[in-house]
Amino acid sequence: MKYSVHFIYAVLHCWIVGLVVSRVSGKQVWPVPYKRLDSRPDVDPYCQALYPFCPTGDPYGRIPVMEYYDIISVFRLQTPVWEFKYGDILGKFHVMHDAIGFGSTKTGRNFTMEWYELFQLGNCTFPHEREDVSAPFWCNQGAACFYEGIDDIHWKQNGTLEKIGEISGEMFNELALWVQEDNKTGVYYETWTVKSDPGANATTWFESYDCSQFVHRTYKKLMELGAQLLSQTPTSYTKIYLYSGEPLYLGDDSIFQQSSTKDLATDIKKFYHSFRSHQSVIEMIMSLLEAYDKMVLEKTFYFYYNSAYWKLPMKFPYLQITYEEIPFP
Ligand SMILES: *[C@@H]1O[C@H](CO)[C@@H](O)[C@H](O)[C@H]1NC(C)=O
Ligand SMILES: *[C@@H]1O[C@H](CO)[C@@H](O)[C@H](O)[C@H]1NC(C)=O
Ligand SMILES: *[C@@H]1O[C@H](CO)[C@@H](O)[C@H](O)[C@H]1NC(C)=O
Ligand SMILES: *[C@@H]1O[C@H](CO)[C@@H](O)[C@H](O)[C@H]1NC(C)=O
Ligand SMILES: *[C@@H]1O[C@H](CO)[C@@H](O)[C@H](O)[C@H]1NC(C)=O
Repeated sequence: MKYSVHFIYAVLHCWIVGLVVSRVSGKQVWPVPYKRLDSRPDVDPYCQALYPFCPTGDPYGRIPVMEYYDIISVFRLQTPVWEFKYGDILGKFHVMHDAIGFGSTKTGRNFTMEWYELFQLGNCTFPHEREDVSAPFWCNQGAACFYEGIDDIHWKQNGTLEKIGEISGEMFNELALWVQEDNKTGVYYETWTVKSDPGANATTWFESYDCSQFVHRTYKKLMELGAQLLSQTPTSYTKIYLYSGEPLYLGDDSIFQQSSTKDLATDIKKFYHSFRSHQSVIEMIMSLLEAYDKMVLEKTFYFYYNSAYWKLPMKFPYLQITYEEIPFP
């Protein structure tokens, strides 16, 4: 084998420059970018949905093609998931679910599009303990669901059903392609937004990846495609926050296989032990309250993001569920 001196030189040069650059830019970027995959992995058969995901959607996730010159109305949809009072600790939960509606002028057909957990919020927030698996086991995929019909009453009752714009059939078809790609590559639900504090200048360590983020991404895509969207009412979204100092990267599931990280593995498992299996929203709330107590006492949260663990040095006010205005992109 013969390499030219130039080639070897170039390789060495790249390697050294690469080393220097990675040292300099090796600084952690905040918020940690959400990791996209090439394709959606199969769900482990251990994960069994209590309520089937997207029961009225197309089994292959197909989205109907609209006529080029059709005019498609776009609706902002929002409905409360649950409201619950618990002393003064967490105040009032105001958890809303967001979705987008579309209505074809030509055919009169309308559609709902939303993004949510395959196995409900509890399963996306806390892992399972399995006898035969050393690492905590997550059933935390989320996905887009597109189905025919808009259930006006469901969305209007204490929620929102508002027309926010019109797009062409052509734009809709482009959006559909984007949704399918987005659905294939962004597959894990992330419940928490992690910030340094509740103030306006806080550093965001991690962004959530949930239904409202999907709606927000979709609005952004629509605007990139040239749509004009306008809401007469404030566009508010539910956010579930954790507050912490700078997070420390711990590692992926290998933590639970190596002997050198045995103590850490035990600690993480202990942390998640009390938050097992949720069948109902109330159980999920009770777990959140337990999580709150743990955070106040131990000031540590073992946070799971991009299929890896981080240690969060928790700070007051630890955990908050807010309903705040986030304007159109
Ligand atoms: C959460 O996951 C477990 C384990 O697969 C499953 O038994 C349970 O039904 C799931 N919960 C919901 C609400 O889907
Ligand atoms: C998104 O992915 C899920 C899971 O594979 C699938 O059930 C759903 O139909 C897909 N949705 C769209 C709009 O492609
Ligand atoms: C969607 O279509 C149904 C059935 O035609 C209709 O009752 C409903 O009002 C429509 N909703 C919207 C927001 O256009
Ligand atoms: C809507 O809100 C009102 C006032 O808070 C409440 O009395 C009513 O039960 C709610 N309806 C639904 C369907 O949640
Ligand atoms: C945020 O930072 C800006 C610019 O540094 C400053 O003017 C402002 O007072 C800060 N706001 C808060 C709430 O700390």
